[in-house]
Amino acid sequence: MMKKADIGLIGLAVMGENLVMNMESRGFTVAAYNRTAERVDSFVKRRAGGKNIVGTKSLAELVSTLSLPRKIMLMVKAGPAVDSLLESLLPLLEAGDIVIDGGNSRYTDTIRRCAGVESKGLLYIGMGVSGGEEGALKGPALMPGGSPAAWPFVRPIFQAIAAKAGGEACCEWVGENGAGHFVKMVHNGIEYGDMQLICEAYSLLRVLLGMNAEEAADVFESWNKTELDSYLIEITKNILRYKDNDGAPLVGRILDAAGQKGTGKWTAVSALDEGVPLTLIGEAVFARSLSAMKDERVKASEAFAREKTPFDGCRESFIEDIRRALLASKIVSYAQGYMLMRAAAKSYGWNLNYGGIAQIWSGGCIIRSVFLGKIKEAFEAEPELANLLFAPYFRDKVKDLVPSWRRTAAAGVLHGVPLPAFTSALSWFDGYTSAALPANLLQAQRDYFGAHTYERTDRPRGEFFHTDWTGEGGATASGNYNA
Ligand code: 2AM
Repeated sequence: MMKKADIGLIGLAVMGENLVMNMESRGFTVAAYNRTAERVDSFVKRRAGGKNIVGTKSLAELVSTLSLPRKIMLMVKAGPAVDSLLESLLPLLEAGDIVIDGGNSRYTDTIRRCAGVESKGLLYIGMGVSGGEEGALKGPALMPGGSPAAWPFVRPIFQAIAAKAGGEACCEWVGENGAGHFVKMVHNGIEYGDMQLICEAYSLLRVLLGMNAEEAADVFESWNKTELDSYLIEITKNILRYKDNDGAPLVGRILDAAGQKGTGKWTAVSALDEGVPLTLIGEAVFARSLSAMKDERVKASEAFAREKTPFDGCRESFIEDIRRALLASKIVSYAQGYMLMRAAAKSYGWNLNYGGIAQIWSGGCIIRSVFLGKIKEAFEAEPELANLLFAPYFRDKVKDLVPSWRRTAAAGVLHGVPLPAFTSALSWFDGYTSAALPANLLQAQRDYFGAHTYERTDRPRGEFFHTDWTGEGGATASGNYNA
């Protein structure tokens, strides 16, 4: 009899198939199952032929081929499919068995499922998988969270198949229940932000400096030799160099109406829920929405036609300003992303592994970059770092970048080049680094019309006051009370 399989995988779409191939290539025996049996047959006949891969035709058969504790990974469509599969699968399993959901599930679903599975004596992992089809085959970034007791059993498999960065696997335990899927969601939000920042830099090069695609590609190529070294800058350069059939740059013929599948939006929604000012990712989501209103924009561009004002500064130094503004804004974006993770960790009781998260994102995924290595170092030096901006490296870096950042933002504003991410990041930075904000007036306004009360600068925090601003206070008495 063939040796028992190390892990089972359900769902043989491309990602699922590629993960099976990846696991097998690292020396694991994998059992595979798919609801539609023909997919199992064709997989076993084609790619899985002659490999340590067992095709199975029922969940019971899948379960019977696995060594204990069983490890079964789901790679099925996110949503009700996961719940219906769990309903059929769980009764076939024994205490200590581990179910891993590697799909793009909402973290709130994962929290619910983790509790349900654990209540049956089984273990559950919700794992963010990033890197697309190629990553799944050659080395994805993996973000596992869920029942901590499951980690030692699956760790050798997942760390073996994950991408590597700096000699270490891009797979670390993230935290409890829905933490893995939450961190994957934040990853996608950060991806939205990084992409928008690059687009704004490109827009300045193209619109303000009049560069063609090749010239802009040269700039991005040179930036990729600096701290901005990253996958997204690399592919941006390749995209800008890509020619259509007649030799013209393809990018110039692509309609400027962006799509989105929703993970950026969910990151922004969770930031609103947590009360975290995740402004850059929010702007990146809205920038896509605005771009999608193409017809309206064309109409508005006619109604509000503006004269192009030529850029009359030093081109070379402005290009460097843009690079530095991009870096500063990116630091703010990651600082905000980590603020969101810290707030969610508090709300949901997760012990998030912040340095580990930076290590995971350093390779195999879309946001991989040299920059993430610096974030990892910052959290290793100070695991309880309150904000990335307080880490000495980032503090010194941002201080140095600020003048360029201001010049770049100002140029966009003066010349009418929209820079929602650059400028909102700078405004956030100016707000975050302001000891005094005009919220004193805001509190007064709230108290004036709604008796919402305020705290005073000359009294201890926690004491609340109300003023009868008009002398017609009615039922609301001034004085101390907790609202
Ligand atoms: P299928 O080939 O039988 O459609 C991506 O859609 C993967 O999710 C496919 O492998 C698909 O199986 C699987 N899938 C979708 N809904 C499912 C369900 N309710 N139960 C099991 N697998 C499902």
